[in-house]
Amino acid sequence: MTIQIVILAAGSGTRMHSAMPKVMHHIGGKTLLEHVIQKSLSLATLPPPIVIHGHQGKSVQDYHAAYSVQWIEQKEQLGTAHALLQALPAIRAADRVLVLYGDMPLITLKTLNQLIQTTNDHAIGIVTANLSCPTHYGRIKRDSKNHIIGIVEEKDATESEQAITEINAGIYLIPCELLKKYLSCIQNNNQQGEYYLPDIIGFATKDHIEIHAVISEKTDEVLGINTRNQLAHLERLYQREQADKLMAQGVTLFDPNRLDIRGDIQIAPDVTIDVNVILEGRVVIGQNSIIGPHVILRNTTLADHVHVRAHSIIDGANVACGCIIGPFARIRPETTLKDNVHIGNFVEVKQSTIEASSKINHLSYIGDCEMGQRVNVGAGTITCNYDGANKHKTIIENDVHIGSDTQLVAPLIVKEGTTIGAGSTVTHSTPPNELTITHVLKQRTVPSWKRPKRITRN
Ligand code: UD1
Ligand code: CA
Repeated sequence: MTIQIVILAAGSGTRMHSAMPKVMHHIGGKTLLEHVIQKSLSLATLPPPIVIHGHQGKSVQDYHAAYSVQWIEQKEQLGTAHALLQALPAIRAADRVLVLYGDMPLITLKTLNQLIQTTNDHAIGIVTANLSCPTHYGRIKRDSKNHIIGIVEEKDATESEQAITEINAGIYLIPCELLKKYLSCIQNNNQQGEYYLPDIIGFATKDHIEIHAVISEKTDEVLGINTRNQLAHLERLYQREQADKLMAQGVTLFDPNRLDIRGDIQIAPDVTIDVNVILEGRVVIGQNSIIGPHVILRNTTLADHVHVRAHSIIDGANVACGCIIGPFARIRPETTLKDNVHIGNFVEVKQSTIEASSKINHLSYIGDCEMGQRVNVGAGTITCNYDGANKHKTIIENDVHIGSDTQLVAPLIVKEGTTIGAGSTVTHSTPPNELTITHVLKQRTVPSWKRPKRITRN
């Protein structure tokens, strides 16, 4: 019996008060749906998961196009049972169906695997949890022998049913033939006028079908998102989970509550991360690197022993061993820094390769540049790479020294060993190993010059 996963993600998420479908909201830089899809794919069940889309379905589909899932539309959102009904024609009769809701991003593989492994082939498995605040969830009804006899939605629950703390997580494992049978029985004569999927449990118990519940011990995983408040709450839970994982792997976090991870990251042991750091997209950090406070790293790889100082932003860069960056540096996409490069404060580097041991320590813009080894760039140097229509390249060869306040008007080559005098505007390539200077005004002193005096009026 193979397992067909179906993810319900067609709802609009009225309670979010958003123009965007609920499952498109993000936790840790990934959409709610993406979390559920990624987990479904790593369960390695045979057929690709089915995703039921509806509200703004095209945008949901486009956003997740990289994932191999099967999309089925629910044209009108008439309830969770109606959503699942749309998938029925695509499910093989012999399969078991694992239903997941697209708004429960923290569900763990451990619980899903446990449900799959412990539910008898002919039984129905569900995941429940005991919540201190069960408000808004469907409640699990049990008889005097503690057998599950049904699920009642909060809006339809009596006062005593509302007092039940065991909730329905919204995960069901059910043989396809039973699903077919019970989906056709479900009515919408309830408070919300919707076809409720949890109603299958009541029908099944009447037929003496075994209902097997996996009671989640880690109750955070079953939390669903219906409001912005719950979104913010789950974001914090997710972030803390990521931080705990990193610390367990040997990363030092100065404050695990002040790190935000919005993507897929890989951090080696003995990396130290100061407070208020944001890691976005694919970020790799090598051993013994130090990330200062208020740093943003996006789609970036740092090798070992890199030091990123406070308030720097590094986006789309490849940084080799021993580099020192910042404070207040901005490294933009397609930049490669080789070993031991130093980038100092208020320096912007864009789409450039800087070879080993070069230094750009103060207030500079380096764009579309190939810089050799051991180059020293003085404060206030600018590669003038843009003529208003096109971008041009600046090539700076090994062992060049560039004086402060220099403009390099591209395209041009600063040949090996060149020294450029401070304040120069260099418009042509330079000869190697010579001093080039364009600021040729001789310094003079004006004799007997007096500073103007402030005029005081009474
Ligand atoms: C649902 C359960 C409730 C459970 C809770 C867990 C029902 C009736 N109730 O309530 O027992 O405790 O989840 O979080 O199932 N969806 C569709 N099409 C629809 C309606 C919903 O695809 O027509 C999708 C939504 O996009 C969402 C999921 O189904 O991802 C759950 O729907 P939602 O409206 O959030 O259900 P809850 O009221 O939270
Ligand atoms: Ca929900």
